[in-house]
Amino acid sequence: MGDISDLSLEEKASLTSGADFWRTTAVDRAGIPSIMLTDGPHGLRKQAGDTDHLGIAASVPATCFPPAVGLGSSWDADLAERVGTALGVESAIEDVAVILGPGINIKRSPLCGRNFEYFSEDPVVSAVMGAALVRGIQSQGVGASLKHFAANNQETDRLRVSSDVDPRPLREIYLRAFQRVVQDARPWTVMCSYNRINGVYASEDPWLLTSVLRDDWGFDGLVMSDWGAVNDRVAGVIAGLDLEMPSSGGRTDAQLVEAVRNGALDERALDRVAQRVVDLVTRAQAREARPGPLDVEAHHALAREAAGRCLVLLKNDGALLPLARDARIAVIGEFARSPRYQGAGSSQINPTRIDSALDSISSEAVGEVAFAPGFALDGTGDAAALRAEAVAAASAAEVAVVFLGVPDDEESEGFDRQHMELPADQLRLLEEVAAANRSTVVVLSNGGAVTLPFDESVPAIVEGWLLGQAGGSATADVLFGTVNPSGKLTETIPLRLEDTPAFGNFPGEHGHVRYGEGLFVGYRWYDERESAVAYPFGHGLSYTRFDYGEVSARVRDDGDIAVTVPVGNVGEVAGREVVQVYVSLPGSSVQRPPRELKGFAVLALEPGETATAEVVVRREDLAYWDVRVHRWVVEPGTYRIEAGASSRDLRASTDLALDGDDVVLPLSLASSFEEVLAHPVAGPLLSNALEARPGGVPTELFRLLGNFPVGRLDGFPLPRRELEQIIDEALGVDG
Ligand code: BGC
Repeated sequence: MGDISDLSLEEKASLTSGADFWRTTAVDRAGIPSIMLTDGPHGLRKQAGDTDHLGIAASVPATCFPPAVGLGSSWDADLAERVGTALGVESAIEDVAVILGPGINIKRSPLCGRNFEYFSEDPVVSAVMGAALVRGIQSQGVGASLKHFAANNQETDRLRVSSDVDPRPLREIYLRAFQRVVQDARPWTVMCSYNRINGVYASEDPWLLTSVLRDDWGFDGLVMSDWGAVNDRVAGVIAGLDLEMPSSGGRTDAQLVEAVRNGALDERALDRVAQRVVDLVTRAQAREARPGPLDVEAHHALAREAAGRCLVLLKNDGALLPLARDARIAVIGEFARSPRYQGAGSSQINPTRIDSALDSISSEAVGEVAFAPGFALDGTGDAAALRAEAVAAASAAEVAVVFLGVPDDEESEGFDRQHMELPADQLRLLEEVAAANRSTVVVLSNGGAVTLPFDESVPAIVEGWLLGQAGGSATADVLFGTVNPSGKLTETIPLRLEDTPAFGNFPGEHGHVRYGEGLFVGYRWYDERESAVAYPFGHGLSYTRFDYGEVSARVRDDGDIAVTVPVGNVGEVAGREVVQVYVSLPGSSVQRPPRELKGFAVLALEPGETATAEVVVRREDLAYWDVRVHRWVVEPGTYRIEAGASSRDLRASTDLALDGDDVVLPLSLASSFEEVLAHPVAGPLLSNALEARPGGVPTELFRLLGNFPVGRLDGFPLPRRELEQIIDEALGVDG
């Protein structure tokens, strides 16, 4: 194995598509075996019997770690790497060569049905968490598949819709996380998405799959299609799509063979993609067999530790939490007994076990624990009677803990949500319970953000997102204070759907969705408008308090910026703080959000302890995409660097002057007077020529004329010939 030179055309074509749903095609004669690729991303979904890509048929038991919506909220790259390592171990035991994840698409709208599989509305958080997972997975000799590349931010019409995105948001928001993960963690594979981008299918876009991914970013792995994403196989191969998944039963292989024979496809293009499949197989074969059995207990313990770091304490008035173990507690809500811990679709894991919050609370409490389901998830039962039972339980207890959430069938891969509201019966239940017991804690289980109309009427809210199989015990850990909550929001919780950035531009129509909010995704939008939100990006409380000292920033030798800020734990218990660093450039020459997250660090502090958070802000992350020269540009100027506990709880700031990158615009007679005057060579030539004119040229003229293309007014203020000479001379010097 290793080289494809003695393979027939048919063999090469067959290598570049699946043998079945989950395996690559073997070429036995040449000693090329088949390898298995399977979902992903927050656990292993290996189907042993019937196969499908929608999570319908059964799969072997595996640890269900917190889905990305949960794990992201930990902002903890070390933790994500450990989870990734565990995913790698489970894949290796099952002899899976590539696990299909992580998914790092940006949460553009809270309505995206698949937001639970993605980390954040921000590219830096998505990239850091995604890269950590990739590193962990690949440390075990198993490949990761970074998906869904790219601009796949909705489920509506996902196999055809064109995401119509301008170049700046495309690069700065939607591709930025992919770029960082590719460059930092070198995933073995990338999965291209179903959708089109600005009219071109991702699976056949040479700009995306070759110019950007390979030429600009240096990706050296394999690109596979999402399951069924191939539209035109020949165009795909030409664009740089290496592997079609799943099998087309030989139909599209025959198209490749025919295209080579009739000259429509250069055989060298086929060789290139076939070679990449062989390279992937070789890489996968290098892993030594990993004998089982899986240490189910150890992985469950990791799932619990991880989940404990993901819960976000949104509010905690009067320090209602943590609960005293001897308190009389009413546990209310069906989700306490029947946890919602992952989303539906291809990422659905068959967990090794499931902890319910009810069992965990009951076993850890010393006082009396009563339970009332409060509502029925299947719509059966008498809603009024269920509520009455819950209200009675709440009235008799010292504290009521109410588990609410989005029902399983409301959010899934394959379709988007229609609204952001919790079911009416749950809201009504809460209203009555909160009226009966002022000490009411709400615990939420939801893959996408929900509105919180009860925010003012309850003292404590815990956003549990989806936490994987140990979410129930981890929730009990946080409620009783065994674990001090440290999760922070990776997405804004808005007040209303109507406030959200993509509102009116989501999910598009007639095959197109216009990314009309441009750069202003998530908190960038709310901050730009100074609009109120329910809970801002980066928010999350703790059972302790953290004090921030002065922030300092300096440019390192490599050009990156070292930001440091001392943070002290001034409360009574140990805790973790996610220290966030936001950057802005007041007076920027291009449109920019008021602040953007550029780095973060997690500190674990004992009570009374102070430590210094060290955050590296990469110079390249300060760049904007310049559409005039088609490249990243760091503007010169004085940047504001802010450190804080959330995007709206900034505790310290400093300014730092940075040198910028030179931008020399291409010169022509279509360049404006201002542009020519700003040009290092042409500028002085033009000034001299203008001064040499009889009587000179009054400078006021340039307030009027500055934006005129120099070649537009024949002979004014200089003869066209003279202007041409200046430009030619400057172009000659530029080389
Ligand atoms: C999903 C992918 C998944 C694949 C295989 C597709 O429908 O979009 O995320 O990896 O199926 O199950």
